Parts: sequence; structure tokens; C-alpha cells
Amino acid sequence: MIVASTPSALTAHLAALRTRSATVSFVPTMGNLHAGHLALMQQARQHAEIVVASIFVNPMQFAANEDLATYPRTMEADLAALREAGVDIVFTPDVTDIYPGGSALHTAIHVPVLGDSLCGRDRPGHFDGVCTVVCKLFHMVEPDIAVFGEKDLQQLLIIKQMVSDLGLPVDVQSGATQRAEDGLALSSRNQYLSDAERALAPLLWQTLQDCAQALTAPATSEAERVLKPARDALQHAGFAIDYLELRTLSTLDAVDHVTEDCALFIAARLGRTRLIDNIQILAP
Ligand code: PAF
Repeated sequence: MIVASTPSALTAHLAALRTRSATVSFVPTMGNLHAGHLALMQQARQHAEIVVASIFVNPMQFAANEDLATYPRTMEADLAALREAGVDIVFTPDVTDIYPGGSALHTAIHVPVLGDSLCGRDRPGHFDGVCTVVCKLFHMVEPDIAVFGEKDLQQLLIIKQMVSDLGLPVDVQSGATQRAEDGLALSSRNQYLSDAERALAPLLWQTLQDCAQALTAPATSEAERVLKPARDALQHAGFAIDYLELRTLSTLDAVDHVTEDCALFIAARLGRTRLIDNIQILAP
């Protein structure tokens, strides 16, 4: 496995490996890799001769009050895991490689509508930072395929929209959310949870499943009649709810019934840890 720590090294190594017929798959990450990331690497491998991963904690997607400084950085373990997963090239740029003049002054890519609700509403600027770095990484790696996890479903929808709007020649694929045995979606931020919070956290996935079942039952009532008591129960259990909502996958509009493909999206805080999850509900 090659570790390319600068854009010019990445370009040189890619040029040496890439043949006319070789397909390149790309999985961008912020490191601190877990089984969810490694499943994306496996998926990337299924479709391509060359698999490229990146590790870059992107300052542009963190607000001033967020956890950029403390975000877990585990480069040696990550490189070992990627080597084991059979990744060909890992790109590990510095902040100055991506944002030579600093991220605050950098051109930003904003995907309207999809990027303005849910986490976009609660974390202003977050998705602009994600889109900007992903677009820059796409230009550097020039992948045929890029794989993103469904755990960050809003991010996945936004990136697909950006790729379509900007005509980027990348096939964006999604990888299923990987979960702990008790249902908690794997996330680098789970390690912020105390033991007591970790024991409580699977309630999010349980709640999503219960709500999805209620919303797809034959005589289903409107979404709020299911979601309001679910929010109250989570709050009572100790969560601070940012949102629990039924939204369409096409526009992320809030809806009362599943008349088109939808998802239930949740973001909730346990202590200082913000957890997100979702469950897709396809139209009958
Ligand atoms: O999902 C993530 O880890 C990040 O948002 C991404 C896509 C690597 C961009 O920094």
C-alpha cells in the first residue's frame, strides 16, 4: 500500500498504477476507522482494480464550537487497517494542501434545499465544508466510483446532488450502515459516550425501527402522531433531540405519510455526543 501525503505524490502514484482500462474507486474518510469504513473499502474493491482512500479531518465542515481539535486522530492504526483491507493508495494531505489560504477564505460549494434542513439547519456551513472537500478530493483522485455510507444519508443525498449539478464524472455508490450487535450505528463519535450513555444509545435505532413499523402499518396515522410520542420517550430517557422527522429522499421535505420513498432521520445528543441515524422507508 502506498501512502501519498501530498497532492503531487498522489498524482504521481496514481499515474503509475492507472492503466487505460483500470477502474478507480475512492472512499474519503476522516480517519479513526471502524468496521463501517472497512465495509466501504470492501465495496470499493468489488467494483475496481484500484482502491484509493483518503484520511483528512476537514476543518471546513466543523463549526467553531464543534470537536475539530478533539476529533480522534489514529493515523498509525488507520493505515494498518487500510493495508489489511487491501487498499492500494491512501491519501493523507495536510490542511495546507487542501486549503492553502485557509478554509475560512476558501470558495464553498453549497447544495441548496437538501443542504439546508436537518443537520444543515443545526450545523450551519457543515455541508458546504463536506461538499467543498469532497469536490476537491474528486478532482485530485479522479475516481470512476466513490463510496459513501448510508449512516450519513443526508450527506450521501447532497453529494449525489452536487455530482449531478456540477456534472462530475463520478458514480456515487452507497454502503449499508454497519451496526454494533445492539443496533447502535458505528461512528467515530461513539467513543465519546460514557458507559451509561453507551448503554442508552441503541434506543435510537430501536425507536427508528418502531416508528417505521408504525408508519407502514395498514391503518397508519399521520407521522406526527407517531413521532411526537417517540421524541417525548427519548427525551424522558435522557436524550436531547435535535430532530426526529419523516422526510422524502428526493427533496428532504417533511411529509405526513409515506407516499414516496422516505426516511426517518434522527439526531440526538447524549451528554456532549451528537448521534445521528436513519431508516429508509420505501413507498408501498
Ligand atoms: O463522512 C465523512 O467522514 C466526511 O464527511 C467526508 C465525506 C470524509 C468529508 O470530509
